[in-house]
Amino acid sequence: MITFPRGRQVVLGVGAGIAAYKACDLLRRLQDDSYEVTVVPTSSSLNFVGRATWEALSGKEVKSEVWEGTLSVSHVALADAADLVVIAPATADLISRIATGRADDLLTTTVLATSSPVLIVPSMHPGMYLNPATQANLETLIARGFYILEPDTGRLTGKDSGIGRFPETNRIINKVREISGRSARLVGRKVVVTTGGTMESIDPVRFIGNRSSGRQGLAIAYEALREGAEVTVVSGVTEEYELSGINRIDVKTAQEMQHVVSAELGGADALVMAAAVADARPEKIEAEKINKRELTKLALIKNPDILAEASKLKKSNQIFVGFAAETGTGIREKGLKKLHSKGVDLLYVTDVSDGKVFGETETTGVLLSKRGTEWGFQAADKHEVARQIVAELVHELGAANG
Ligand code: CTP
Repeated sequence: MITFPRGRQVVLGVGAGIAAYKACDLLRRLQDDSYEVTVVPTSSSLNFVGRATWEALSGKEVKSEVWEGTLSVSHVALADAADLVVIAPATADLISRIATGRADDLLTTTVLATSSPVLIVPSMHPGMYLNPATQANLETLIARGFYILEPDTGRLTGKDSGIGRFPETNRIINKVREISGRSARLVGRKVVVTTGGTMESIDPVRFIGNRSSGRQGLAIAYEALREGAEVTVVSGVTEEYELSGINRIDVKTAQEMQHVVSAELGGADALVMAAAVADARPEKIEAEKINKRELTKLALIKNPDILAEASKLKKSNQIFVGFAAETGTGIREKGLKKLHSKGVDLLYVTDVSDGKVFGETETTGVLLSKRGTEWGFQAADKHEVARQIVAELVHELGAANG
């Protein structure tokens, strides 16, 4: 079963302020808004709200240090997966550590490693907040593109009052929505992704198929969804999967796939042909099961080349992505030839010698663009390739429409 996170990913960093308890409500509200939240509290903040609370509320393991569970490199994984990092409450010390680029716990290393937007929600005593040191650190962070939500003014812990109160959860949620909307780069775009293998019947029990799992196409669909695109997945035979948010159309044969692709293409901004399409099908589908004694020869006819046919109708503002699975030597050169013969903007050519790639989570290959740029991947996670392809889609769609 191939599964994907249900919503956009938020890392919720929690600093050691009394308002940490209010971040429990924020976590819940983010979840209500369909964000999938991973909590990364600083070690000192666990004095206010303990690990058990965060684990119970988030349903996930909670770590504070880079040294915990070192089998996976947590900060890099978190930094890559996060669509947004929210730090609430952010203390003066945490803000200072981030501003100076310190990387002395899991939260600060994640912030340093991520390329996603970071929202900082300062919450502290007015004296600390208004101190020139804290203000200078906030200015530095604003200049670097961090988002800062100004604290509320009002009653604080003890007898004090003034600026520094943790904002009402609604204000934080509204800011998160605003940033999420702004950072999604394919909002209003329609992306059609074909995935999986096609299945061509020989008789009621036999068929011509292939070893495609659908993983690569699904990873691209997922990354396009994260960028806010409207995604249609034309799904051939794949491993079972669950990917919420897509418009899924199941097909079996190459002809069915072509029919759906041409119907969907009109309103689409991009077509990603990740499906492994059978190049030929039996000339005739036998209504009865063929007796094994007669099963000696199979007459085939060519299937349509869906991508090459679609390319003939391609509009100048549409971007097409093709795939090629090759074996032997000169994989890159074979890919370059196909990039041109199929009339696509981008083509990922994979090395499938010795049964590699099909059904696996890793891939080795080269992403080629018609502009002449190339990106090599060596035993890379298919999501890594998907992210690069979607980044190029964003880039190319911007150029084609702007
Ligand atoms: N493709 C397609 N229709 C087909 C065959 C392939 O749309 N009938 C698409 C695939 O989805 C992929 C690209 O074309 O994006 C390359 O497919 P591949 O099978 O590697 O190339 P072929 O054109 O079939 O060339 P060959 O098998 O001769 O290498």
